This record gives sequence, structure tokens and C-alpha cells, in this order.
Amino acid sequence: MTESSQIPRRSLLIGAAAASAAVVGAGALTPGVASATAPATKSRRRSTEDPFQLGVASGDPLPESVILWTRLAPKPLDLDGGMPPTDQEVEWEIATDEAFSNVVQSGIAAAPASHGHSVHVDVQGLTPDSWYFYRFKHGGHITETARTRTTPALGAAVSAFTFGQASCANWQSGHYQLYADLAQQELDYWIHLGDYIYEYGAYDPKRPDKGGYVRDDKVAHREIPWGKEPVNLPQYRRQYGLYRSDPDLRALHAQAPYSAIWDDHEVDNNFTRRKSGGDGQQDRVDFRRRRAAGFRAYWENHALRVPPTDGRRMRIFRRVDWGSTATFLFLDGRQYRSDQPGSSTSDFGGWDEGMFNPDTTMLGPVQENWVSQQLADSAAKWTFIAQQTVFSDVNGGAAFDNPAALGLSKGLYNYDAWDGYWAARGRLIEAIATNQVRNPIILTGDFHTNLAFDLLSEYPDPRDYPTAADLTTAIKAWEGTKIGTELCCGAVSSPTFFGSGIVAAAGPGTLRNTPWAAYGELQNNGVIVNRVTSESVEAEYRIAKTNYKRNTAEGRPRTDKTVVIEDGVPGVAEVK
Ligand SMILES: [Fe+2]
Repeated sequence: MTESSQIPRRSLLIGAAAASAAVVGAGALTPGVASATAPATKSRRRSTEDPFQLGVASGDPLPESVILWTRLAPKPLDLDGGMPPTDQEVEWEIATDEAFSNVVQSGIAAAPASHGHSVHVDVQGLTPDSWYFYRFKHGGHITETARTRTTPALGAAVSAFTFGQASCANWQSGHYQLYADLAQQELDYWIHLGDYIYEYGAYDPKRPDKGGYVRDDKVAHREIPWGKEPVNLPQYRRQYGLYRSDPDLRALHAQAPYSAIWDDHEVDNNFTRRKSGGDGQQDRVDFRRRRAAGFRAYWENHALRVPPTDGRRMRIFRRVDWGSTATFLFLDGRQYRSDQPGSSTSDFGGWDEGMFNPDTTMLGPVQENWVSQQLADSAAKWTFIAQQTVFSDVNGGAAFDNPAALGLSKGLYNYDAWDGYWAARGRLIEAIATNQVRNPIILTGDFHTNLAFDLLSEYPDPRDYPTAADLTTAIKAWEGTKIGTELCCGAVSSPTFFGSGIVAAAGPGTLRNTPWAAYGELQNNGVIVNRVTSESVEAEYRIAKTNYKRNTAEGRPRTDKTVVIEDGVPGVAEVK
């Protein structure tokens, strides 16, 4: 989704409207990761600068395993990270106590130059449902001590656990105090739903509609020093070097394991399977090569339990279980999707026949089959479907009594979200309904808005109503069958889309007139702290204006509302 507090051109028209691991000594090899013992070029380099400026991370936990990550980059803002073009080695250790008096495993892992000197250690043989401490050493330097944990044993019921939910952290438009806030929430786990980095370079005043953000005196700007978008692997590595050097993000990673999925900005705004979003500053490059570079840098810079890209695709859809209490299905709604309706790369538009093309796909056939099978097999109490864009129907035309008078033929839809992929959404709804999935909860990022929806079996179809006014009337009176819930976190730092400009006028009315929208907060950035028990999920919405200087009252994270979902009761039970 376009990161800008400007109104996209198309909405201006309508919207006047308003609107490894080469782990030696411990574990299995991760595919694609060179052995630490093999390369002849390896060397133990002594450096004077701290090579661990990107911190550490742990991810994709299993009952007896977790991926430990770091990346050597003494100069994170240099294209080569300040590293020589030779393979390196890094020592690691994991202990049951913070003082490392009881080290349970240790080893030497490869940090190959071909992996941007990243390290992925797949530690095996750990105890289920247990906390650990880990650290890395290289060249006389040692990392911070970080915490991680394993998931409960397969089938084990746990009385409670807590996970964080975050997305959309544009460096240029704010600070990361919501990451710092999550770091203090005693999380067992956290998930990132995409836009972990933005590809944007500097704001270009000559092309104010192309990427970046709008300058505002109240905004605490953070610059992208090189001022242009990444298109190749060294440039994407450098973009991660900048983002990952942030102390608040490092602090969060040091507290608990996470799982991440990408959205568009890990490569290019609003990209689809075959093409770039077309609105960036660096579009005259071979998009397939650019996408492969973005995917490769993503793998290098995350603690992922998946192989790196083969140069074309990279499979990130996967599953994480929390005993018998919860299953997380992580989806990729970006890499395999059809182009947006009408080949539009605008975020928003009116009714478009392309929305209903039965041949369009959000997940691609292979992943669609996979998720159907996972839903059929899921026996967990809570099934979390973690994915990128808003799943529930949101028609901005619902804010107005007579949308047609504003030029909204059948409303105002977000083409880049599931509203633009009507048939694909219908197929996933059917898979959830026919498999009688227990307590399905969709977890969403992208929209830069704090939202909760009742998930319905069916939404008002604009083709069934002759006029926009008829459709609006139908939306307001809609009584669909609830089959689950959707929780959408705000952005960590990206501009709140409904927070300014004329689109702000459409937001409150849309929420008020959409019966399945249970909660919405449109003005602030946000993250969610989800507390899961066998009886309920309580989603605490933590909000702040993160584009202000950090020491202001507005910049301090606080709880807005807590959305409660009860076992066996689809939809939002209470907003308190
Ligand atoms: Fe975003």
C-alpha cells in the first residue's frame, strides 16, 4: 500500500469524495546454507569495529528448535556492510540462564559473503515450552544477550500465551517506540505481517506523488542517506542495514522469537507476481531481477526457517503451532497474486469488473490448496491466519448517503486488498466455513489503521444493486453470518492513511455504517498485544503518534481498546 499521507491520484478524483545453518556441533543444515567447515576462504577476521550493529534475532520456533540469526556489518550503511568479500565464522552459544553458566549448546556457524555475512543457526534438541538465552561472538566482539523460547510440545495444551502483532515501519515517517513498547510486554512470540522495510528512497519534491512521504513540520523525519530506492542485492542489504540498526527494533528482537512474512515494500510498492507497482523512483529495471534481490535480502536479514530464493521464487507460506492451543498459518498474498483490477496500481478505486474475475488469485493455486488442507487438518483451539492485506469488505462509499453524487459509482474499494480479489476471498471463506475451523482469526497488517471486524460468510455484492445508494443502504442493514474475526494492527510508523486529508472524512462514516466493523481507531499508529487463553483472545490495541518526536505525550504508547473474542463464538464479543 502506498505510504503517503497524500491522497493517491485516483482517490483525489473520486475522493473529493471525501474521501544455517551451518551449525557445527549442533544441528541440521538449513538448505542453501554453506557449511561452516567447508569454505577454504574462511578466515577469522579481527576487527576493531563492532560487527554486530544489526543485533540478533530468533525466529520460527518449534517444540525443540529455533533459528538464531545475526549478520556481520560493522558499517551497516555501506553497500558491503563494511565487510571484506571473504567468508567468516561466528561463535554462538545458547544457555538456560542469562549468565551463561548452563550452556546447553554452542558451535561455530558460517557467515558466508554470499549471504551478506548473515548467520542462520538452526538449533535442535531443545526442551519444549522453555526459555533460553543466546549470544554470538566474532573478532573479539560479543552481542547482547537475547532471549528466545521453544513452542509447547505437539498436542500440549497451554493455559496462556501472549504474542505481538506488527506491520508497516517506514523509516522516514516515524520512530519505533511501538517496537520498544512490544519489547516491554513480556511477549512469548511476535509476528510481523510485512513492510518491515520500505524500499523508498528520499522524498523527491519534484515528484511528490512518487513514494516517500509528505513533509510536515510536526514530523520527526529520518532520512534515507542514499536517497534512492534499492534495486539490486547490495542496495537491499544496505536498506536492511539501516532499518535493523534501530535500537528499538533490536530491543524487540532480543526479547522473544518472531515469525515474519513480507508484503509489497520488501520489494516495491504494490507489486504483483510479474510487475512492479510502477510508481517508484527506480522503475526502469528488470523487475524479475529486482524482485529476486528483494527476496534474497529478505532471507538474509530474517531468522526464517525456509530456504533462500532460487533466484525466481521463495516460499514463505508456512505454519507454526503453539501446542494444541493455537495454529498460525502464515500466508504470502503478494508473490503469487494476479494484478490488481484493471491492472491498476492505485490503492483505491470505484467498482471495477476486474474485482470479480473468477480467474484472479491472491495466493496462487498451490498455496490455496495448501491453506485449504491446513484448515482441514487444524485441530487447534485457535486458528490464526496471518496475512498481509485487509480481508473483510470495506467500502468507503458507505460513509455517504448518496455516493454517486460524489462520483463513486459503486463505492470506494481498496484494490490491493482482498476487496480487489472477490472470488479469491470467496474461496478462502468457503475453505474456512466448510472445514468448520474452530475459532478462525485473521491477522492483518498493511492498512495503517487499528481495526477489528466480524468475519462474515458473505458481503454485499455491488453487482446485486442497481445504484450506489442501493448498495450503501444494503451495507448499513447487512446481517451476515459470522464465521470468525479479523484483527488488523495499525502501522508501527507509516502514516495513518485516514489521519489526514480529505480521505479522513470517509473513514469514520465507513466504520460507523459498516455493521461488521466492530472497532476502529483511525488517527494513530499501532500494534496489538494478543493474550491467548483457552477461553478467549484479548487483543490489546497499543497506539501512539510515532511520527512525532519521541518525548511528546502524543508519542507515548498507550492502550486504546481491548477487543475480546470468546471460544466458540465467531466475531468480536466485546470492545472494552
Ligand atoms: Fe505499509
